[in-house]
Amino acid sequence: MTDDLAIVILAAGLGTRMKSRQAKVLHRAGGRTLIEHVVRLAAHFAPPERTYVVIGHQAEAVRSVLAATGVHFIEQTEQLGTGHALLVGRAQLENSARNLLVLYGDVPLLREGSVRALLDLHAGSKRACSLLTTEVANPSGYGRILRNEDGKVTGIVEHKACTPEQARIREINPGIYCFRTQTLFAHIGKLNRNNPAREYYLTDMIHLVRAAGLGLESLKVTDSSEVLGINNRAELAAMDAVLRDRKARELMMSGVTLIRPETCVIDSDVEIGADSVLGPCVALYGKTSIGADCIVRPFTTIRDSVLADKVTVEECCWIESARVDSGAKIGPYARLRPGSDIGPDVHIGNFVETKKTKMGRGSKANHLAYLGDATVGEKVNVGAGTITCNYDGVNKHPTTIEDGAFIGTNNSLVAPVKIGKDAYTAAGSTITEDVPDGALAIGRGRQVNKENWKKK
Ligand code: UD1
Ligand code: CA
Repeated sequence: MTDDLAIVILAAGLGTRMKSRQAKVLHRAGGRTLIEHVVRLAAHFAPPERTYVVIGHQAEAVRSVLAATGVHFIEQTEQLGTGHALLVGRAQLENSARNLLVLYGDVPLLREGSVRALLDLHAGSKRACSLLTTEVANPSGYGRILRNEDGKVTGIVEHKACTPEQARIREINPGIYCFRTQTLFAHIGKLNRNNPAREYYLTDMIHLVRAAGLGLESLKVTDSSEVLGINNRAELAAMDAVLRDRKARELMMSGVTLIRPETCVIDSDVEIGADSVLGPCVALYGKTSIGADCIVRPFTTIRDSVLADKVTVEECCWIESARVDSGAKIGPYARLRPGSDIGPDVHIGNFVETKKTKMGRGSKANHLAYLGDATVGEKVNVGAGTITCNYDGVNKHPTTIEDGAFIGTNNSLVAPVKIGKDAYTAAGSTITEDVPDGALAIGRGRQVNKENWKKK
């Protein structure tokens, strides 16, 4: 980080081609909004006090997504183009720092290394502007880089204004520039709207800088996928795939086994410890953290949850805002809802649902149960078909099951209720009263056999 750099990120546009009510930079790829990706990148090069985000469409929503980062905002109420975005920010940007790095909020794949290379190039020269370029197979929609016979960049022509010959140029403008701030603002007033879009194009600055006799540097990025912008949902999906792929590779390089990584969907913020194994079609979202030596089998979805080491999650589980301690076994077909706190070596089996429920060490609920608002001690056995009746239609009530208790199959535990330490409940019971420690509770009608019923 150098103290002579400020960063401005353009994020005011709606993105008409997204066909969305939502501002383009609020769409998500790799589990983060596009703007969050760019702001995170910017944080490698300038502190938030010298990072400015130009907002317009859904300004309040963009502000709230970025609130925690501490960046500054510039309001561009009317979006008259990328050049206009800097014009409206003039008061804040002009004296921000000696150099100004411009990033577009819809270019989220950019790598730290490429920006660093651009900044190094810029710092080493006396040029007024340095820009990144790249070559793509299909340049449609991008501004084309114009060069003279000496190979020097002379300007950028927008797709809409290209002559047929210019349209064939495959070197494009990714929208990443570093300007000498004073020079930029000394000449920005010359931008005009004489173009098909009737916008102030920031790209025209390249021509203006050259016309003023000031030097330009350019640097070609070899991996063009880094600098692709998003203009429609198809490009958004492609970008999401690139981010997922990068994340999968990063995990594999750090010692995680992914079986068929291309089928897994893993958000950028997810963490996984070494020697854990993910089966095909696993989805891990949000701030999920998985320890070492875990196994997560196919078709499981985990969101905003923490799994300790040596946890096994079998096929087709759904885990959200839950904690699972080491050695626990979950599933197949289990659902851990928010507030589930599954202790060490606990077994949660098929078709078991938990919500706001704490399970102590070594307890088991292996089949077909609902445990809501429950506190379950250690080494408790919850029989198949057990339901905590926690909701009376108005309020939720707690169920407590103490250490070593044995809940028979097909029990209804009508909360609030407490099952004491080492107590038993008989199969098929409806438990409405507290059960003392060590007692057996039988809460069901006695069986009556009517002899010769059929004949009668
Ligand atoms: C722009 C470039 C084009 C480049 C392409 C790379 C210009 C004139 N053209 O075109 O050369 O190849 O990006 O992706 O710069 N924005 C604002 N305020 C505005 C207009 C845009 O903040 O008034 C923001 C948008 O929110 C977006 C970024 O600037 O994040 C780029 O805008 P967009 O409309 O997508 O520009 P392109 O037409 O793609
Ligand atoms: Ca764009």
